[in-house]
Amino acid sequence: MCGIIGYIGERQAQPILLNCMARLEYRGYDSSGLAMASGNIEVYKDSVRVNELAKRLPKIEGTAGIGHTRWATHGEPSQANAHPHCDCTGNIALVHNGVIHNFRKLREQLTAEGHNFTSETDTEVIPHLIEKYYQGNLEKAVEAALLEIEGSYALVVLRADEPKLVVARRDSPLIIGLGDRENFVASDVPAILDYTNRVIYLEDGEIAVVTKDDIQVRQNGRKLVKKEHQVSWSIEDAQKGGYQHFMLKEIHEQPKVIRDTLGDYISMVEPIVNFSALSSAPLEDMLFIACGTSYHAALVGKYIIEELVKIPARGELASEFNYFQQPSARTGVVAITQSGETADTLSAMKRLKGAGKKVIVISNVVSSSASRIADQTIYVRAGPEISVAATKSFTAQLMALYWLALSYSNVDISRLDSLVTELRQLPHKVQQILDNEEAIAKCAEYLSKYDNVFFIGRGISFPVALEGALKLKEVSYIHAEGYAAGELKHGPFALLGVNTPVIAIAPQDDTYKSMFTNIKEIKARKSPLIALAEEGNETIGEMADLVITVPKTEPIFSPVANVVALQLLAYYTAKQRGCPIDMPRNLAKSVTVE
Ligand code: F6R
Repeated sequence: MCGIIGYIGERQAQPILLNCMARLEYRGYDSSGLAMASGNIEVYKDSVRVNELAKRLPKIEGTAGIGHTRWATHGEPSQANAHPHCDCTGNIALVHNGVIHNFRKLREQLTAEGHNFTSETDTEVIPHLIEKYYQGNLEKAVEAALLEIEGSYALVVLRADEPKLVVARRDSPLIIGLGDRENFVASDVPAILDYTNRVIYLEDGEIAVVTKDDIQVRQNGRKLVKKEHQVSWSIEDAQKGGYQHFMLKEIHEQPKVIRDTLGDYISMVEPIVNFSALSSAPLEDMLFIACGTSYHAALVGKYIIEELVKIPARGELASEFNYFQQPSARTGVVAITQSGETADTLSAMKRLKGAGKKVIVISNVVSSSASRIADQTIYVRAGPEISVAATKSFTAQLMALYWLALSYSNVDISRLDSLVTELRQLPHKVQQILDNEEAIAKCAEYLSKYDNVFFIGRGISFPVALEGALKLKEVSYIHAEGYAAGELKHGPFALLGVNTPVIAIAPQDDTYKSMFTNIKEIKARKSPLIALAEEGNETIGEMADLVITVPKTEPIFSPVANVVALQLLAYYTAKQRGCPIDMPRNLAKSVTVE
C-alpha cells in the first residue's frame, strides 16, 4: 500500500518526483525516498514525510528518477528500510509496492551467493535478483528476476546507464502517464494529475519499458497494444481512487487486504506466534484486550480460539481491564489495536507487562507504541486506514486471529486443509458482497428513515451485531444497539414496534433454529426486520421485510462476509442521511487519551 512514482523526460526530474510524492501523502506514509540517474544512481531516503525529505535534498541534476512513499510492513520505518533499494553495485535502484512471500528463501540464497543486504525489507531481494540476471539488458534481467518471485508487486526499476524505466505489476496497481516528450509511472492516478490525464493501465503480468518518447508493453515476451484512457477526476476525487469517501474505498479494498494478510502468514516459516517462547507452561486459556471495533474482533477471536484450539478464551475492553484481576501465568494475552496508539489499550498492556506477563499485539502500524510495549507483534496488512470508521482493519484482524488459531489448532489435516482452502476463498466471497452493493444501498434507503435500530446475533454473530451497530451509529448518527438475540426478551422487547427495525444476522450454523424463533418473536411485535442470510436460504424471506444475501461460508468464517455487508449498510445509510462519513462528529481516528 505504498506510493510509487517514476519520471523520464526532458525536464529536471527532482521537483517533479517530489511533487508527485507529496500528492500521494494523503494516505499518511511513514518514509519517503527517491533515486535519480545522473551518470550514476543517487539515492536519498529516510523515515520522514516528503516535505521534510525535500528540505534535506541537495539539487540533483537528472531527467530520470523514481520515488516512493512507504507504509512500513516488513521492517520498521527507518532510513535503511525506506525505498528505493539498490543492488550491491549501486547501479540498479528500485521502488516496490506489494508483498514478496518467498523473500526469506530468496534472501538466504542470494546471501549465500555473496549479495549483501542492508535492510529488513522483503523488497530488497528484487534489485539483487535483477543484478544477478543482468547481462546488458535491464528489461530481460527484470523478467528473469520476476520469475523467481512469489507474491504481489508494482515496481519501477532504474539503472544508471540505460535511459529507461522498467516497470511491472502483479496484484498491485500501476499506471503509466503519457506526456509530451516525457512519461510518468505511478501507483495511483492522483500522483500525476498535475502533469497529465492521459494514462495506460498496466495489467497483471505485464512489463513495460518506458522512455521519454516511447512505451513498449509486453506479456510473456509478446508485444501488446495498450489503450490510452483520459482521466476526468479532480485531484480530490482521485485521491479517493474515484470513490466518494475513504470509507467506501476502504470497504472495497478488503478482498486485497485479506489476500495480502493471509499471503503473508502463509509464507511464514515460523509459526505466527511462538507461545512456548512466551510462556514456560502450556497455555490454559486466552485473553484478548482491545477497544471499539478492535474489541469486536477480540470477541470474534474468543469463538475462533474456542472452536479451533479448544481452550477457553475471552475478550475484554481495555478501558475496563485495569479494574480486573491479572490473568494467570498460563493465560496467553493478545492485545488488538489497528493504530497501536489507543491509550486504553496501551495502559492495559503496560499493566500486564508490569505484572510480568508476556503480551502479543495484533496491529496495523509498524513500530507503533503498542508494538514497542509488546513482546511480539503480529502485523496485519490493511494499509493506511484514513476513514475514522474502522472497516478493512477489522477484517485484517480477523485474518490474524484465524491464522493464530489454526497455528495452534489440533484439527486433523483434512479439516485443516479445508479450512485453509475456505480462507483462500474469502476474497472472492467478499467481492461477491461488494458486487451486490446496490441491493444493500436499497436496504439503507429504507433504514435511513428510522431513529432507533437493534442488531441481533447469536454465537459468533453476536460480536458481528455489536460491530454492525457501532458502524451504523458512528457514521449515520442513528441510535443503534447490538444485542445477543436471546437477550431481547429480557428487556429490549419493550422498545420493539413499527418504529424500531431489527437487523438479524442469521447464518445457517447451529444457532439458526433459535435465531429463527427470535425473528418470529420480533415480527409478532411488528418491528420491521432486515435479515442477513446466506444464499440458498429460501425460508427467511417469509419472515423478513428485507433480506441481504451473503455467500455461504464455513460457520467460523461467517463474520467476514456479514461484517462487510453491515459496513456497506452503515455507509449507504449515512450517505442517505447526508452525514460527513469519513469524519463523524466528535470522533478521532486515534484515541490517545484514556
Ligand atoms: C470504530 C473505530 C474505533 C476503534 C477504536 C480502537 O469504527 O474505529 O472504535 O476501533 O478506537 O482503535 P485501535 O484499533 O486503533 O486501537
